[in-house]
Amino acid sequence: MQIDLNGKVAIVTGAGRGIGREIALTLASEGVVTVVTDVNEANLEAIKNEFERLGYQGSQYRCDVRDFHRIQEVVEAVVQTYGHLDILVNNAGVAGGGPVSSLQEEVWDLNLDINLKGTFQMCKAVIPVMKRQKSGRIINAASFAAIVPSYGSAAYASSKAGVSQFTRVLAGELGPWNITVNCYAPGMIPTEMNHFAERPEKEQERLLDTLTLRRWGSKREVANLVCFLASDLAEYITGTMIDVSGGKLATQIPKIAYEKAGVENNE
Ligand SMILES: NC(=O)c1ccc[n+]([C@@H]2O[C@H](COP(=O)([O-])OP(=O)(O)OC[C@H]3O[C@@H](n4cnc5c(N)ncnc54)[C@H](O)[C@@H]3O)[C@@H](O)[C@H]2O)c1
Repeated sequence: MQIDLNGKVAIVTGAGRGIGREIALTLASEGVVTVVTDVNEANLEAIKNEFERLGYQGSQYRCDVRDFHRIQEVVEAVVQTYGHLDILVNNAGVAGGGPVSSLQEEVWDLNLDINLKGTFQMCKAVIPVMKRQKSGRIINAASFAAIVPSYGSAAYASSKAGVSQFTRVLAGELGPWNITVNCYAPGMIPTEMNHFAERPEKEQERLLDTLTLRRWGSKREVANLVCFLASDLAEYITGTMIDVSGGKLATQIPKIAYEKAGVENNE
């Protein structure tokens, strides 16, 4: 069994760095014409150079997912240039927080505007294209926080729970056009968003204790799931959220298995 994505066209939002960058590079390595969008111009320039170095096909656009006018321009340019648009990955996101009692309105708005409204706006712009084609894949970044939130994450977790429910609603609306809509829930993937792997050792241990596989996830492991969801292998999957968290809290105290086995982790 092989994943065949050759010749597909994808947009990946927020792909200048982190998981989105890895998703873009992984899709492109599978022959996908990959359009990278982000707000950070320096990171767009860097991934442009990386695409050129690796001989990958695609293009880069500065695009804020809060700006519907700009989103429409980019989607139109993509369709004009490549003729079709098969995959949209709504990866762009921010994580800000604090306990509700002191949470600033601006932080709440930023999380909701980028993570949830940004996803909605991107979908709204590509839906007419995918309907015309009678095919399409929309893949949204939710988070484990949409399943079990952590302290001080009201803004972020609410936005990601919104992404999860939005995904199901949209899947229901787009079934007649053979467009699937799914989301994925990463657990703890060290990136510049969270610096998990640079935290004090004790804190890292406490976080790792929540994971059945007791190690951080890699950006590549998330990108692999996105490739699967974008491929024909996943054509009968829609309206779902897939947890890619190494079994975070899959059992009540995952650490017990490691104590019984007499090992620190599974590496
Ligand atoms: N890293 C994790 O452990 C983890 C866990 C759960 C969910 N996620 C989700 O995965 C996605 C990627 O996370 P990451 O860890 O790579 O984060 P990151 O901060 O490294 O990357 C986020 C990217 O989004 C871009 N971005 C921010 N605001 C934007 C906007 N308004 N318009 C367009 N682009 C914008 C940033 O410039 C950046 O390139 C996010 O949606 C995040 O919530 C990550």
